[in-house]
Amino acid sequence: MKKTVLVTGGTGYIGSHTVVELQAAGYEVVVVDDLSNSKENSLAGIQEITSTKPRFYKIDLKNKELSSEIFSTHKIDAVIHFAAFKAVGESVANPLHYYQNNLGTLLNILELMKQYDCENLVFSSSCTVYGQPEKLPVTEDTPIQPAASPYGNTKQIGEEIIRDTINSSDKLSSISLRYFNPIGAHDSGLIGELPQGVPNNLVPYLLKVVGGELEQLSVFGGDYNTKDGTCVRDYIHVVDLAKAHVIAVDKLLDKKSKRYEVFNLGTGEGYSVLDLIKTFQEATGETINYKIVDRRPGDVEQIFADTRNANDNLGWKAERDLKNMLSTAWKWQQHLMRKS
Ligand code: NAD
Ligand code: WQD
Repeated sequence: MKKTVLVTGGTGYIGSHTVVELQAAGYEVVVVDDLSNSKENSLAGIQEITSTKPRFYKIDLKNKELSSEIFSTHKIDAVIHFAAFKAVGESVANPLHYYQNNLGTLLNILELMKQYDCENLVFSSSCTVYGQPEKLPVTEDTPIQPAASPYGNTKQIGEEIIRDTINSSDKLSSISLRYFNPIGAHDSGLIGELPQGVPNNLVPYLLKVVGGELEQLSVFGGDYNTKDGTCVRDYIHVVDLAKAHVIAVDKLLDKKSKRYEVFNLGTGEGYSVLDLIKTFQEATGETINYKIVDRRPGDVEQIFADTRNANDNLGWKAERDLKNMLSTAWKWQQHLMRKS
């Protein structure tokens, strides 16, 4: 019989791509999302790609009573917990909102998993837990830095809550995946990232500039100690990321994981902001109107992953290059523009 995976935040950016890969791998998928940062029509995109619409619950996971209906209706074999708020600046302005949502939902999920004997959890963590590391590339043993934002803190605390819960139970196992910078979209251009309002992140902003919705891309800082003066990041294709979640679920269900494991998910390659702009132009033939401006407060100069642990112990390796990330992102943006 098919195993059932509950994907929280499954209509969102990374969640929707993961639902596609889970279905392709033969899992039954149940999605829960309150649509606070996504639209229900991403389910139609998923259905067009896979010919299967996942069972969907529009529920705020802060509400434990409502959320329990999912567990009482379905025998959930594993949970992938994506649901969270993720805007760093907003979390600084409204920390309680972030602690309530990102930690409240996790606590409810853990309590419900215990109550309904679900033993397997994959948690969305972030490279933000490393801050600006002294040594690059970052391994999973790189020291965690004091969080630079309440958002980042919710990921650090989230990992600690999971670890403590595992220590108190003889059943729960979990894998925390620390994503670097997810970008790109499904090859079909039918699902992708849907930022609300003016985007804060580089690629969503760049796409709106190229699409004509925004005037100019500001490149934050040209005087960093990097090869061209702009910040360096490890951009990772969202489909590669989605596939890592399927492998993590397989590993947990096959009882091949340790009780608690952490993996960095990146390509291991660092690209500067100017590298990314140049690659986008080469991949799409579009020209980007950009200007180098002052640094953005809080940005780390450079970070990229040591991926050996994920390669060797998760059995996963990113396959797609920056060009593919950017051409699929542009395809998704064109899909959005046609629809508006
Ligand atoms: P997203 O906003 O597209 O998806 C998150 C989904 O969770 C949204 O659909 C939102 O509506 C839903 N959600 C939020 N609060 C909820 C609640 N209380 N109840 C039910 N649903 C709720 O974001 P994403 O980029 O897909 O990120 C997914 C996860 O990955 C998040 O936990 C995020 O912190 C983490 N992450 C993202 C990045 C990134 O750059 N995108 C990097 C590292 C980690
Ligand atoms: C990338 C680079 C900017 C916008 C954030 C979160 C992190 C994680 C991933 C969730 C940086 C530059 C950006 C723009 C620019 N998310 N930039 N002009 O800051 O690396 O990471 O997303 O866990 O926690 O902080 O991503 O896309 O905002 O920036 O020049 O308009 O692009 O300075 O160098 P970041 P980003």
